[in-house]
Amino acid sequence: MADRKKGLHISFEGIDGSGKTTVSTNLYLKLREKGYPCFYTVEPTFMRVGALIRLHASRIRNAPQYYLALLFAADRVEHYERIIRKRLEKGYFVISDRYVHSSIAYQGGLLNDPEWVRIINNRVPPPDLAIYLDIDPENALRRKKVSGPFEDASLLKKIRRVYMELVENGELVMVNAEKPLEEVLGEVTKIVESRLNLDLSS
Ligand code: TYD
Repeated sequence: MADRKKGLHISFEGIDGSGKTTVSTNLYLKLREKGYPCFYTVEPTFMRVGALIRLHASRIRNAPQYYLALLFAADRVEHYERIIRKRLEKGYFVISDRYVHSSIAYQGGLLNDPEWVRIINNRVPPPDLAIYLDIDPENALRRKKVSGPFEDASLLKKIRRVYMELVENGELVMVNAEKPLEEVLGEVTKIVESRLNLDLSS
């Protein structure tokens, strides 16, 4: 296990039902098994603003997206300052289930203004690696048992379009999340190994 002075931040992105939580948890466990200090975290958080967002989750779709974008950005600043930064300084791997690209894709896509969302999120640094799990919205909705605030296929298509732009400009690394889980997990491991120069083979 290499000794690291500064940790690495890996975020997982995708529309609801893409399997982010399963895949990100698997990577976290793999890194831990290898002896790396690591920390798993999610957005929205359970801190002050994140809890507020979660409390109103059922009504979130009807709230103005400008307002939501600002709430998510405020939650993220608190998340970064109080949690992520400290872990990275201690040399941890931080695995985030959603981070800044969720806002750019969701609020940016729904507002048709990803650049504004990017600007209000410029107080937090980008992750070292952002992995995007791609799935067709119709398939994602079929997969998902519990419906989320953005369970409408036409909304999810707008969100996916922004994610695709972020793949094209190199900010996200895409994985086809419609493949069998074992293949998705294998591909994610390979990406992490090659991009971050690690060996996670058992
Ligand atoms: P979450 O509870 O992570 O749902 P899931 O596990 O299904 O991904 O996220 C709740 C919802 O919040 C999800 O639909 C995506 C949305 N969201 C945004 O719209 N913008 C954001 O910046 C973040 C972090 C989440």
